[in-house]
Amino acid sequence: RLYRSAVVRRAVFLPRHCRPLQGIVFKDIFPVFQDSTAVEALITNFVYHVSSTHTEKVDVVVGLDARGFLFGPLIALRLGAAFVPVRKQGKLPGETVSTVYAKEYGEDIFELQKSAIKAGQRAIIVDDLIATGGSAKAAGELVRKAGGKTVEYLFVMELSFLNGAAKLDAPSYSLVKLD
Ligand code: ADE
Repeated sequence: RLYRSAVVRRAVFLPRHCRPLQGIVFKDIFPVFQDSTAVEALITNFVYHVSSTHTEKVDVVVGLDARGFLFGPLIALRLGAAFVPVRKQGKLPGETVSTVYAKEYGEDIFELQKSAIKAGQRAIIVDDLIATGGSAKAAGELVRKAGGKTVEYLFVMELSFLNGAAKLDAPSYSLVKLD
């Protein structure tokens, strides 16, 4: 009886972001980084895809907080493009553009430094995974607000049954689609 009540209390009083999400299998990207050949193959695939799809130069690679930061700079370096982070509210100094997006629970705010993208620049948005597409769509809005144009979205994994890619304003490319 005591044990049961302890379990109930824990479920009620744990902060929201610490509670296990029922029915959601977390797809962990970090094991990829234990294998440098896998990382090399993955980045080479993205870069080959981008350079063979887009004849015009990609100016900016935008990575999403936080796991988009693992891939964005590597891709940017190979493309000779800038890397620009999209971060959760309150982390970026200077003037920012911001937008609200929906998560599994409630909402969050994403920001991008206004001066990081120049008018008319062509951007690629990168993240490890697309689920419902809320955060990627928000990043697309930020690129537009800063004066840029998103030409493609890149993901390592896509949960295709959630149809997130249909929300986006440009084509998306995923290395692995999970049904
Ligand atoms: N982001 C949103 N849904 C996710 C999932 N199932 N695994 C990893 N990251 C996620």
